[in-house]
This record gives sequence, structure tokens and C-alpha cells, in this order.
Amino acid sequence: MNEEKVESIISEINTKFENVKEINELQLLKSEYLGKKGIITEMQSGIKEAADKKSYGMMVNKVRTTFNDLYEEKLKELNELELNRKLESEKIDITLPATKIRQGSPNILEKVVEDMESLFMSMGYDVVEGPEIEEDLYNFELLNLPKGHPARDSQDTFYLEGDKILLRSHTSPVQARTMLKGKGETPIRIVCPGKTYRRDDDDATHSHNFMQIEGLLIDKKATLADLKGTFDVVAKHLFGDDCKTRFRPSYYPFTEPSVETDISCFKCKGEGCPICKNTGWITISGAGVVHPNVLKMCGYDPEVWHGFAFGFGLERIAMLKYGINDIRTFYNTDLREIKAFDRRED
Ligand code: PHE
Repeated sequence: MNEEKVESIISEINTKFENVKEINELQLLKSEYLGKKGIITEMQSGIKEAADKKSYGMMVNKVRTTFNDLYEEKLKELNELELNRKLESEKIDITLPATKIRQGSPNILEKVVEDMESLFMSMGYDVVEGPEIEEDLYNFELLNLPKGHPARDSQDTFYLEGDKILLRSHTSPVQARTMLKGKGETPIRIVCPGKTYRRDDDDATHSHNFMQIEGLLIDKKATLADLKGTFDVVAKHLFGDDCKTRFRPSYYPFTEPSVETDISCFKCKGEGCPICKNTGWITISGAGVVHPNVLKMCGYDPEVWHGFAFGFGLERIAMLKYGINDIRTFYNTDLREIKAFDRRED
């Protein structure tokens, strides 16, 4: 071996390192030169036969150092390259629009129910529930709706089995159920929110499935005036302190006298507008003094006990409150429309 040979080996090593592109190629190169049968390893073992061991040793050392230096340098370079590649591929583009997370919101009818429930609870009422699949007895019979009354017609009511089991057509059967439980002995103050069903053709103001909130108060001194006062509180709570109320005579078999309860139009303040159909007033519930027949049938002595009852249409209140003009909106599943309710909140 001579200087020339050393230089040629070194230049060959240089070229090989220059061509290395991947870490695994570097490993191969290492074993090619420094492995058991590697070029440099073999050169080293040749020292035994060398004439001039010192200069031979120095030459092998030169090759070895060159190799090691180049190896370290290349390793560093490739590691850096790899790191940069990684950083590049994992880069987060903060200018990309974020994935939108859809946020749920309370059902608008549920919100009105909860609001009314807490108002009535603050006045000492209990919240009770009744079955949606109801018996003729509670839905009609005990409410003084005689056989043959038009509301009992199968054209108006969904009957499930014969003429005895039906989908309740109002929440008033809960009145009868509650009175029977009171056994003619205890005063009653309840509200009952819930689903109700009628065989209506669906349109903007009718839905075969709708909601009511029923109220019943039975006590020894309870008058139409108390009903008026209560309705006034509810109306002001729902539609603001300047809301006026009025009763109009009406007819329900289970109340006597019966009334339609109106609020002054919150939109035109009584001037007349499309919302109140130019009357200045909007009807939001039916109500009245509990009929003596109902008290009697449900176990309360009409000579001792008196009471009033009311039934609000929940969709009607929600529609007025949130400016919704089609009742079907509550019952379809179009998320875009349901979503639009959110924006109507306070
Ligand atoms: N149940 C009646 C209806 O569905 C409303 C009502 C309730 C009327 C209580 C008077 C008393 O129309």
C-alpha cells in the first residue's frame, strides 16, 4: 500500500458518501468498510505483514478517520433532513378554517314548558303528568262530556281500541285523575304539561300532535276572579309587564262559566295588526270555573269545594313568543329550521 492507493481509497469513500441518500444506505456503507470483512478492517489486519508498520498504520488511520468523519457528518446531515421532512409533513396549517362543532340547544317547546313550570311552582303549584294513551272515562266521561258530544266523534279523536281507549285529545283528563286521587279531601294546585292528539288536518296553525299545559286549582275559596288574577300573572310573565288581559265568554262542558283568555297584542299594542287579526287581542288559552258535575263525579262536594281550570296551547305561545308562523316547524326534522329557533332566543 502506498500514498497513491490511500488517496484513491479515500476518494472512492468520498464519492460513496456523496451518493448516500438514506440512513440505511449509510449503515450498508459502514458494514462495507468497518464490518467483519470490511475494507478498512481487512486493511487493519494487513498490518501484520507490512514492512513499515508505522507508516502502514498511519495510512490505515487516515482512511479510517476520513471514513469516520464523513460518516458522522453524513449521519448528522441525514438526521437533520429527516427531522425537517417530519416537521414539514406534520405542520399544522393554522389558516385552515376549523371544523365546526354543532352545538345542541334546548327544544323551544321544552323551554316554554320549563319556564311555565317554574312560574307555576313559584305560585305553589305541583307539576304532574298523565298518560297520553287515555281512557274515554278520564278524557270525556268524568269531564262532563256527554255521549254523543261532537268532540267524542272518531273524526276528531284518535281511538286505539274500540271506543274506550284513545290518544288524549287534551290534557284535561289529568284534572279528573288528580281529583280522584285527592278523594274530595285535599285542596289541589297542579299544572300538567304534555302531548295531545286530535284528528286535525295539518296546516300552518293545526297539528294532529300538539302540546298543552293544563292547570287546576281546587280550594274552598276559589273564584273566577282568582283565575283572572292568575292569568294576568302568567300573561305578564310571558309577554311583558304592559300586557293586558281579558276574558271572553265561551263554552266547555267541564267548566261553568267558561272563558277564552286573551292578551293584548304585544306587537301593535292594541292598534290592530296581522298577528291579532286587527282585533288588538290574541287568545292563548281556554279556562273556566270547574263545573259542579265534574267536582261531584271526581269526588269533591260542589257545596264545599270550588276551583278553576285552564289549558294553554304551548305551540301557540311559543309561536307568538318567538315569531314562528307555522306550527309544523315544531314537528319536522329539518335541522336548518330547528337551528333557526336558536337565533330567536333572547
Ligand atoms: N281542554 C280545553 C281544550 O283542550 C281547554 C280547557 C282546559 C278549557 C281547562 C277549560 C278548562 O280546548
